[in-house]
Amino acid sequence: MYQQAFESFLKNTDEKKIFLEVLTAYIKEKNCKSILDIGAGNGDLSIPLSKLVDTYLAIEPIQEQADILRQNNVPVVQDFFPCNIDQNFDTVLCSHSTPGKPEKFIPFINKAFELCKPDGNLLIITYNDSEKTWNTMLEKCSLEWPGFHNDRLALLREFLNKNFNNIVETEIITHISSPSYNEFIHALAFVYTDGKHSDEDFVNSKLVQQYITENHYVDGVYSFPFFHYMFSIKKPL
Ligand SMILES: C[S@@+](CC[C@H](N)C(=O)[O-])C[C@H]1O[C@@H](n2cnc3c(N)ncnc32)[C@H](O)[C@@H]1O
Repeated sequence: MYQQAFESFLKNTDEKKIFLEVLTAYIKEKNCKSILDIGAGNGDLSIPLSKLVDTYLAIEPIQEQADILRQNNVPVVQDFFPCNIDQNFDTVLCSHSTPGKPEKFIPFINKAFELCKPDGNLLIITYNDSEKTWNTMLEKCSLEWPGFHNDRLALLREFLNKNFNNIVETEIITHISSPSYNEFIHALAFVYTDGKHSDEDFVNSKLVQQYITENHYVDGVYSFPFFHYMFSIKKPL
């Protein structure tokens, strides 16, 4: 993990705040009392979320993240999903944790749906990485994206529409913003590299700087929108 990029990302994105607002409203609307959070992450979202329901269980394979959750009294199964869980939940949440390729996401989603109570909901949140502003920037700056999975969202949507009923799809928009180009570009670089690669080429690209300044700099602030999709799938009674 490239720590500086991750820290810049966390500091300059409104993602956790927006998702917490969206999920709080969702929990209230569905009168949800129990959540299984698959891929719970570093706690920024999952710790406040765990306080909103009577029963909350996190699944998180990474030791460091699981430790943070435990230190905050959040129950954790430290494993890769699909794994054995012997409880059912009002909401099974997969927020930015479903695998990108069908051979992996199909067993993952089928098992997650099994773990919803009747009349409960499977909630999948994923990032739209193949359309709109992000892709336009990559094209205009002639950049290959190391994290790109061709047709990922289209394949997921096709699978869900073929195999499930009662799907509600909602778009969620978040932003990375900063008045400092240096802060902003490191935060954006975290998305570009997914924290797994060196970000030097991206951060130092004059083409990217020119593109960002012309298209995403308004009133002294650099700001870049990201489009996410939330699929809510109701399990019949
Ligand atoms: C991008 S983070 C999302 C964290 C949080 N859910 C959020 O939306 O802010 C993805 C998380 O999923 C976890 N993850 C990846 N593959 C997983 C799997 N097969 N089963 C469970 N968790 C997984 C990762 O360790 C990571 O913490």
